[in-house]
Amino acid sequence: MTDEDAAVRLWRERAERAERVEGREGREGGAGGVLLDGFHALKHALRFGARVPLALTEDRTAVLRLAGELAPDLTATLDELLTQVSPRTLRALVPRVHPTGVVALAERDDPGTRSAPAARTAPLVVLDNPRHLGNIGAVIRLAAGAGASGVFTTGSVDPWHPNVVRASAGLHFATAVERCEADGLPSGPLYALDPEGQDIRSLALPDDALIAFGSERHGLSPELRERADHLVALPMRPLVSSYNLATSVAMTLYHWMAAPVPGRSPGTGP
Ligand SMILES: C[S@@+](CC[C@H](N)C(=O)[O-])C[C@H]1O[C@@H](n2cnc3c(N)ncnc32)[C@H](O)[C@@H]1O
Repeated sequence: MTDEDAAVRLWRERAERAERVEGREGREGGAGGVLLDGFHALKHALRFGARVPLALTEDRTAVLRLAGELAPDLTATLDELLTQVSPRTLRALVPRVHPTGVVALAERDDPGTRSAPAARTAPLVVLDNPRHLGNIGAVIRLAAGAGASGVFTTGSVDPWHPNVVRASAGLHFATAVERCEADGLPSGPLYALDPEGQDIRSLALPDDALIAFGSERHGLSPELRERADHLVALPMRPLVSSYNLATSVAMTLYHWMAAPVPGRSPGTGP
């Protein structure tokens, strides 16, 4: 059996198992596979400790060259991990091959592996029944970059959906990402974002805050509004009704990050 045949067989086995696990318990955070679509998703997943049993490409040399330019820390790992397959084989396994020509499967963490710390030193983002997979991914990417404690979502959408992972560029592995019920949120002061609230510029967000955002169509649910300790508004010109969900999260996390911290020099990371 060639390396290509062995890799394809392993891919099919893993993908089938992931489908079975997702079908049974995916919405409850089952430990199925996670498709990493493209170089950046694979790079981030590896950097943040994902277990990646398999990565396929139609051009090993090109991917290793890209790694040399963008992720020299991973060149040796990728050299060992990448299996070259024919373009035809790759197209048979993934319907739309990423422009970087690489695709991988990561093992989804067991529930709780990267859980948000009980004693938080950075806010936890709560998305209240978000609907748009691209928005959720963008928020996970923001949370990872800002060093937030994690992203919890309520509602029926799985925050580990492949399109969410694609939009987060694989940064699910850099923070805690979980789905939960509104009444199962961790404890802590809840700051719910709403245009009718108090101007965010007049307050400081505590490090252990839960910062909650409503759904794209309907805003905050009555449950979250009820539970909120503070309603907080992002400044907007009159006649504009709201910002996009991911943009609102970015502004709020930046407000937290930009607050002066004794001993931290400007320009250092979170
Ligand atoms: C696209 S908006 C929701 C718009 C929705 N049609 C509504 O009625 O609220 C998604 C979420 O972003 C946050 N958001 C957007 N603009 C905001 C603002 N100016 N101030 C505070 N939160 C805002 C809120 O949490 C809101 O629920």
